[in-house]
Amino acid sequence: MSTIICFDTLNAMKLYREGLLPEKTIALVPTMGSLHRGHLSLVEHAKSLASVVIVSIFVNPLQFGPQEDFDKYPRSLEQDLALLEPYRPLIVFTPSVDEMYPQGPSRTVITLPSMTRVMCGLARPGHFDGVATVVAKLFNIVRPHVALFGQKDAQQLAIIKQLVEDLNFPIEVVGVPTVRESAGLALSSRNRYLTSHEKDRAVFLYRGLSVGRALFEQGERRSSVLTNEVAKVLQGQGIVPEYIALVDQRTLEPLDVLRSSPAILAVAARIGQARLIDNVVLSP
Ligand code: PAJ
Repeated sequence: MSTIICFDTLNAMKLYREGLLPEKTIALVPTMGSLHRGHLSLVEHAKSLASVVIVSIFVNPLQFGPQEDFDKYPRSLEQDLALLEPYRPLIVFTPSVDEMYPQGPSRTVITLPSMTRVMCGLARPGHFDGVATVVAKLFNIVRPHVALFGQKDAQQLAIIKQLVEDLNFPIEVVGVPTVRESAGLALSSRNRYLTSHEKDRAVFLYRGLSVGRALFEQGERRSSVLTNEVAKVLQGQGIVPEYIALVDQRTLEPLDVLRSSPAILAVAARIGQARLIDNVVLSP
């Protein structure tokens, strides 16, 4: 039947999963809803990789700091389901907070010390512990063969890949390229916090990264030079970056000089009410 089936309890989700034939391949696309074309590109990739695609929609309180936007994070289930229509058949898993954390905040928290305390982790203590913990829970509930994550959240992607390796989850983690608006701004659920003027400024995050990437393509390998050039573009717009970093794509270790392994040039900045992040991959 070509339809969207929604499960909002762990039991219903698990029962469905147990009933699937062993030859089915299952893909999981974890999201927090408020879907846009970036999320939909993950769903499309998932469709090409697996016979059953499960999209989870769960705004995970464990990954929001006390001063962050958990309460006002956009929630739009009806609109999300309409956006998913073209991808039928599809399973959508929408557990409540009580279903996911029946005893209140999780007592078990997964942490990856070296990878969660750099870059975004500095401004968002505990954030990636919350992400790693909820993703591990979703992996155990859904038991997918493959799970898809966006390259837009490069630190999150690296952390999930490491988690899967360290805890021996039998799951292939696939990274999907960042979907952008025509002017270059990476799509994000938080872009809706921006006024149109702020959106015009936000475009410069990607412009700065693109200048860095162009220099890299001309042979520049020094972190100081690449990050300074990004900084100049942001300065021109009065944007004060939270960080600009050149790190190893897999380990997230800071690099002085880019050598043989792929790196990410990443930026975070607050523009208006939104904290925005973006990155480009530099592959020697
Ligand atoms: P959320 O921000 O909803 O993002 C869900 C997935 O969509 C993530 O893998 C993210 O990297 C990807 N994504 C977001 N914007 C994208 C874009 N412009 N192009 C491509 N992919 C994009 O990330 C989370 O939720 C949560 O931390 C989650 C992993 C669901 C755990 O709670």
